[in-house]
Amino acid sequence: MPEVVLKAENIKKSFLTGEVSTEVLKGVDFTLEEGEFVAILGESGSGKSTLLYILAGIDKPTSGSVELLGQKISEISDEALAAMRRRDFSFVYQFDNLVPNLTVYENVTLPLMLDKRKESEYKDRVSEILEYLGLADRQKNFPRQLSGGEQQRAAIARALVTSPKVIFLDEPTGSLDKERGRQVMELLADINRNKGVALVMVTHSEAHAQYASRIVRME
Ligand SMILES: Nc1ncnc2c1ncn2[C@@H]1O[C@H](COP(=O)(O)OP(=O)(O)O)[C@@H](O)[C@H]1O
Ligand SMILES: [Mg+2]
Repeated sequence: MPEVVLKAENIKKSFLTGEVSTEVLKGVDFTLEEGEFVAILGESGSGKSTLLYILAGIDKPTSGSVELLGQKISEISDEALAAMRRRDFSFVYQFDNLVPNLTVYENVTLPLMLDKRKESEYKDRVSEILEYLGLADRQKNFPRQLSGGEQQRAAIARALVTSPKVIFLDEPTGSLDKERGRQVMELLADINRNKGVALVMVTHSEAHAQYASRIVRME
């Protein structure tokens, strides 16, 4: 049986604005098996980002439970959760993924540095990933010197360097033109197939959702 890496049950989330409470998620169930590629498809404002943040353990649901690697998030200490986020799960945001005053190489290796890993142990692997993502000759550049597509690939490289079990992506093609968006989608499908990483991707693009092996629709 494939390993269940993520299981969410009856997730509800309300936001309080002044005295008005709005329920954005009204009981979402979601299960992710190792190596899957799931697209969460929905219109703007349907609660996709909210759900993704909760699934990734970045935000807490108002009620319902999330289990990461068989452990209930509510029962994992903050420290253990932070370590899981560094090693087992990565996140690619829609915008502003990179630290502006660090080079591409420094941005990509940041999670490894924060995890106090030795550069001699990861150097070759990082070079391989940068090569794979077409960023080998961009390593010394700063984010502002890169195109939008290159910036997004650097964010994907950073998500990959830790060899995570799952990468969460919030509209990874949202700020790219059609051709660059298609290239990033091809790349993600390839990463999923060849690196065995499960992907949970939020998108409002019906076409981009088709790259996934399963589509979940937000209503
Ligand atoms: N921190 C917040 N405080 C109040 N309302 C929020 C907050 N985050 C999201 N919302 C509201 O929740 C709804 C869903 O937002 P979001 O999850 O960002 O949707 P999507 O990613 O599908 O566009 C929106 O109406 C948004 O205004
Ligand atoms: Mg969003």
